[in-house]
Amino acid sequence: MGTPSAPSTTLLRRTVTCGELRDSQVGQTVNLNGWVNSYRDHGDLVFIDLRDRYGLTQLVFDRGEGGASGGITQDAADKLRNEDCIAVRGTVRVRVGGENPKLATGKVEVVVSELQVLSKTENPPFLPDDYGQLPNEEIRLKHRYIDLRRPAMQKILSTRHQIMRVTRDYFHENGFLEVETPILYKSTPEGAREFLVPCRNVPGTFYALPQSPQLFKQILMMSGCDRYIQLCRCFRDEDPRADRQSEFSQVDLEMSFVRREHIMEMMEGFVRRLFGEVLNVTVPPMQRMPYRECLERFGIDRPDTRYGLEIKDISHIAAKSDFKVFKDALAKNPGGRQYYSKKGVVKAIRIPGGADKLTRKLTDGYTEWVKTFGAGGVAVVKTIKAADGAIGFETGIAKFIDTPAVKPELVQFLGLEPGDTVLFVADAYGVATKTLGELRQKVARDLGMVPEWGKMWNFLWMIDPPMFERSKDTGKWVAMHHPFTSPRDDQASIFVEAAENDDETIESIVSAGYDVVLNGSEVGGGSIRIHDRAVQSKVFQLLGLSPESAKEKFSFLLEALSFGAPPHGGIAFGLDRLVMHLVGTDNIRDVIAFPKTQIGADLMTRAPSLVPEEQLKTVHIKSTFEPKI
Ligand code: AMO
Repeated sequence: MGTPSAPSTTLLRRTVTCGELRDSQVGQTVNLNGWVNSYRDHGDLVFIDLRDRYGLTQLVFDRGEGGASGGITQDAADKLRNEDCIAVRGTVRVRVGGENPKLATGKVEVVVSELQVLSKTENPPFLPDDYGQLPNEEIRLKHRYIDLRRPAMQKILSTRHQIMRVTRDYFHENGFLEVETPILYKSTPEGAREFLVPCRNVPGTFYALPQSPQLFKQILMMSGCDRYIQLCRCFRDEDPRADRQSEFSQVDLEMSFVRREHIMEMMEGFVRRLFGEVLNVTVPPMQRMPYRECLERFGIDRPDTRYGLEIKDISHIAAKSDFKVFKDALAKNPGGRQYYSKKGVVKAIRIPGGADKLTRKLTDGYTEWVKTFGAGGVAVVKTIKAADGAIGFETGIAKFIDTPAVKPELVQFLGLEPGDTVLFVADAYGVATKTLGELRQKVARDLGMVPEWGKMWNFLWMIDPPMFERSKDTGKWVAMHHPFTSPRDDQASIFVEAAENDDETIESIVSAGYDVVLNGSEVGGGSIRIHDRAVQSKVFQLLGLSPESAKEKFSFLLEALSFGAPPHGGIAFGLDRLVMHLVGTDNIRDVIAFPKTQIGADLMTRAPSLVPEEQLKTVHIKSTFEPKI
């Protein structure tokens, strides 16, 4: 029998895990290893819940010389504290104090005959208890090794592992090869800022960490690889958010000799398999919605279709009202084109039953909130049953729309019933669309209209997005997905003829891109790629890349395209986002073992950190930053 001060040299290596024992094992002698999860002193008996990744098992130390555990062990048990790491040997018996139905092992307990203290704990900064009070996230991330001991976190790690396993199985069964692509990569503009890595051997040069393996997977298709998959790491030097990390993982794949349909079919099969195996749910068929329809109806290219609150353009009715805000908006750029233009519009959302639920405080708050999207405000009206039995308006802008010219048409167009609220935004098309797109999501949250996790899985393909958009920062044309995305088949001739200064044509070209949206979050994006060198060169030209700089950055791609490139396409799913959906969290940091904070810091290792000047010299770098001492 061991004592804590004289540890045995042989480890009492576990014969069972803490989640395993059932009443069929009563009478057996077993070894268990784990952490002290809780400690209860009941006079003659000391009870300990021992925890490992698999569950909890109740240990009993029988106090006193005559007790089953013997006096020495009981002394040792007295000194145990939460989070000590221990090994025990003991005998399984039916719980004397009655079953604990909440635990899988709740019918039994183990009467300890031998104890080894493998590692004493210092006073822990918090206890890994899912039901207790957790400290703030900063402390949890700093001591991630304790946070990850929580059963909820262990469950996430194991679900993530299962997701990766099912993914690999599915694509393996479908003939995909997992190929690893380089992490030290060439700097290529693909959207977000890159992380640079200085190269010691060639002074003044840098690698970049890949934002995605996009060009390598395309080159793999040109290399005859045919079907590629990789669970890969991507790096983007952008500020982390609730669903975004600067270092994240993708399920990245590419296929040769395919059209959009084939990729969609493969991915729908993947989603069905994944949700079936992990959650045992059957996901409904994936709807397809063109980009423009997404914007029109939902104000966003990743619509959440779990609740109504669709947006309607009521400009043609608003034009008949004397409300100045409507008039001013509609007077803006009236001849302009509909999309991305400054053309003024009036758009509205009907909120059924909103008259009771949406308080004045909420609607006043919206007026302020929408200013962050550039809108001047929100006009509000409530519907009532008027004395004559028809629908009437009250509050807000009622007097401007309760007119014979506007009311009947508006009531019919929006399908209004008494007791509704209508929210209006009058502005340039882009502002009104975005504002109402955000507002409908906020209203849905405020009114509890968003279904609980697990109740609805609304997958949707957003298809036919434009090839190009104006950069918000530089005003220049940029690729909406990436510059390797092909124009949609029927756009080839418009595309080939588009002149660099023909803005109208450039913005009208539809691409062969697609995104996968789940419950309003973008979980994947991809496209059919360009496999023709001339088309690729033309995209670079429209993006304002001179032939010299296209060659300097992408000569390898242009060359590879000249040697028999097969038609190909692919997609990448955000692995972390998939895991978020499958475990039901809004916080991406919950599904990554060692995530970064909002400012990109790893609080446990304290990365990023300053490095000594000597080390910088070896990579030919001189920092201009003067640390404050
Ligand atoms: P895209 O940039 O759309 O496409 O990325 C694909 C998917 O990756 C996820 N994602 C992220 N997840 C967490 N943190 C981030 N910072 C982050 N950024 C993106 C999203 C997104 O839908 N090479 C192309 C794919 C292709 O064309 O095949 C690409 O990377 O879920």
